[in-house]
Amino acid sequence: MNLSLVARAPGRVNLIGDHTDYTGGHCLPMAINLEATATFVPLAGTDTLQVRSDLEPSEAMLPSRLQADHAGLANIEPAWARYVAAIAALTHPGAEGVLSICSNLPAGAGLSSSAAVEVATALAIGSELEPLALALACQRAEKLASGVPCGMMDQLVIAAGVEGAALLIDCGALTWETVPLPAGVEIVVADSGQPRRLASSAYAERVSECERAERVVGPLARVTVADLRAIDDLRLRRRARHVVTENARVLAMAGALLSGDIDTAGALMNESHASLAQDFEVSTAALDELVSSLRALSGVRGARLTGAGFGGCAVALVERGTRLPAGIAPRVWHVRASQGATVAVSSEPVQ
Ligand code: GLA
Repeated sequence: MNLSLVARAPGRVNLIGDHTDYTGGHCLPMAINLEATATFVPLAGTDTLQVRSDLEPSEAMLPSRLQADHAGLANIEPAWARYVAAIAALTHPGAEGVLSICSNLPAGAGLSSSAAVEVATALAIGSELEPLALALACQRAEKLASGVPCGMMDQLVIAAGVEGAALLIDCGALTWETVPLPAGVEIVVADSGQPRRLASSAYAERVSECERAERVVGPLARVTVADLRAIDDLRLRRRARHVVTENARVLAMAGALLSGDIDTAGALMNESHASLAQDFEVSTAALDELVSSLRALSGVRGARLTGAGFGGCAVALVERGTRLPAGIAPRVWHVRASQGATVAVSSEPVQ
C-alpha cells in the first residue's frame, strides 16, 4: 500500500487590519475551523503531478517540473490548477504523484479558501519550509497564478495560526505574536452573499494608490495622519489615512483583547468598517447593510467587513452564547480560533 501525506490548512478571518499588509503594516487575523485538505500519494517515475479537486469538475495533469513564471502558468488548463502548479514549482519542484484536494471553505467569500489550498498543497507534496518561508512562497505563488498583488497576511496566519488566539502580525518586520481571545466572546462570520473576486476587483488599484501615496510621504507604516497633508490628491490622502489609522486600530485592538476590554474592541471594529467604507472605498451596499443589521442585535459588540471587501463576509465580536436570528445572512459561522496547517503520513487507502 502507498503511504500518503495528508495536509490540512485552515481558512482565516481577519479581526481587524485590512489593506495594511502590503504596505508593511499591522493586522490581526485568526485561523478558523473550516479547512482545505490535500492528500498526496507519491508515484516516483511518473514525471507528472495529477491533481483533482472536489471543487472542480475536471482533473489536471501537470508536468512535475514547471517554470514558476506568469507566462508559463498562464498556459495551464484548467485555470484552477495554476495555483497548484505555482505552489509545486516554488515549494517542492519535481513532486510526482496524485494530489487530491477537498475543502469545506466557501469559495469567493473572503475566508482565504485559495490560500488554504496553497498551504495544504505545499505541505502535502513535501515542502518542509518553516511557516514564514512557506507563507512567503505561497504568497508568491498566488501572485503569479492570479496576477493579484496580494499581501502575506492570509498565508501566514494559515501557516502559523494558534488555537484560541489571533495573531498580531507586523507585516514589515515579518514577526508576529499571539493575542488570546477573551473567554467571554465569540467570533461570528456572516456572508453578505455577494461573491468576491479579487482579480476583477479594484484590489490592484488600491495597492497602486498606496504606492503612489508612499512616493510622496514614505512608508505608510511609519507616518502619522498629520504627515498626510503633504499628499495633494485628496482621494489618495483618504486611502493613506485609512492605512495609517487602521494600523493604529490594530495595535489598540490587540491591547483591548489582551485586557478583556470588549467595549473598546467592538468600537475599534466599527471604526475600521467606517474607514474601509469611506476612506478606502472597498465596502459595498450589501456589506454595509449586513454590518448594520449585525450591530443592531443584542450581544453583538462590534462588526466590520473582513478581508479585501468588494463583497464577501463580515466579522462580528459577540458575547459568548449569542444566537443570531435565522435570515440575518445567507450563511453564518460561529468560528473558533484554530491551529495553523499540519501534515501527517497516512497509510489509509485514498479514494
Ligand atoms: C486579501 C489579500 C490579503 C490582504 C487582504 C486585505 O485577503 O490576500 O493579502 O491584503 O485582502 O486586508
